[in-house]
Amino acid sequence: MKLNALRMKKGKAKIIMLTAYDCQMAKILDETGIDLILVGDSLGMVIQGFKNTKSVTVADMLYHTRAVARGATNTPIVGDMPIKSDRTARDALRNAQRFIKAGAQGVKIEGTRSKVVRTLLNAGIPVMGHVGLLPQTAENYRVKGKRPPEAEKIFHDALELDELGVFSMVLECIPEALAKRITEAVRTPTIGIGAGRYCDGQVLVINDMLGFDESFAPKYLKRFASLNKIIKDAIAKFQEEVSSVVYPDSDHTYH
Ligand code: KIV
Repeated sequence: MKLNALRMKKGKAKIIMLTAYDCQMAKILDETGIDLILVGDSLGMVIQGFKNTKSVTVADMLYHTRAVARGATNTPIVGDMPIKSDRTARDALRNAQRFIKAGAQGVKIEGTRSKVVRTLLNAGIPVMGHVGLLPQTAENYRVKGKRPPEAEKIFHDALELDELGVFSMVLECIPEALAKRITEAVRTPTIGIGAGRYCDGQVLVINDMLGFDESFAPKYLKRFASLNKIIKDAIAKFQEEVSSVVYPDSDHTYH
């Protein structure tokens, strides 16, 4: 599906996006029929073990985008432009082209960077916007837009991205009423994370929704599986069977 075709879903069917960072997960997601895979710079936390996304590099992102592209041959892939990759429109264009070469069909840019977004769109690169909580520049991970001035700024940022012609925009950690107001005001589909039910779609970080890290529990996060427990149970069984020489048995041995 061409990324711009996602606009057709607005008001008709919800858009489903999940993150992936490696080939095997991308292959699984590709088989589920979700709309989009985001190679998010959230990999700074869930893959690299940092506290935030501020140290993720373009090289890191391209490495993971290539891995995801090897696994997902049908689902459109969006590459997240990391901090410092889009300081100037020229840098942004060069880096966005590298994402496309790595296998992404479009890129996501945090915040309203009009000149950058316009440059990429003019070069034919589909852009996903991102407003609300902006982890690359945020000093803390609190909900944004609870107070009227901040809510107005986020609303106007969303209108600006809509005018520019992004193919969708992420609304991160904002009150549901603000997300609803934005979703109703823009032609671009909105994809929420911590932004309530009225968005045109939803995104979650795959490791979070599968329950890898039980200590990460923001209010918006629902765990759809408990892989932490499943993995630990499997490892305990392996330990027990190896210790008691139950594994490897004859069926799992070359004769
Ligand atoms: O980096 C990421 O995974 C994201 C999503 C949370 C939207 O930006």
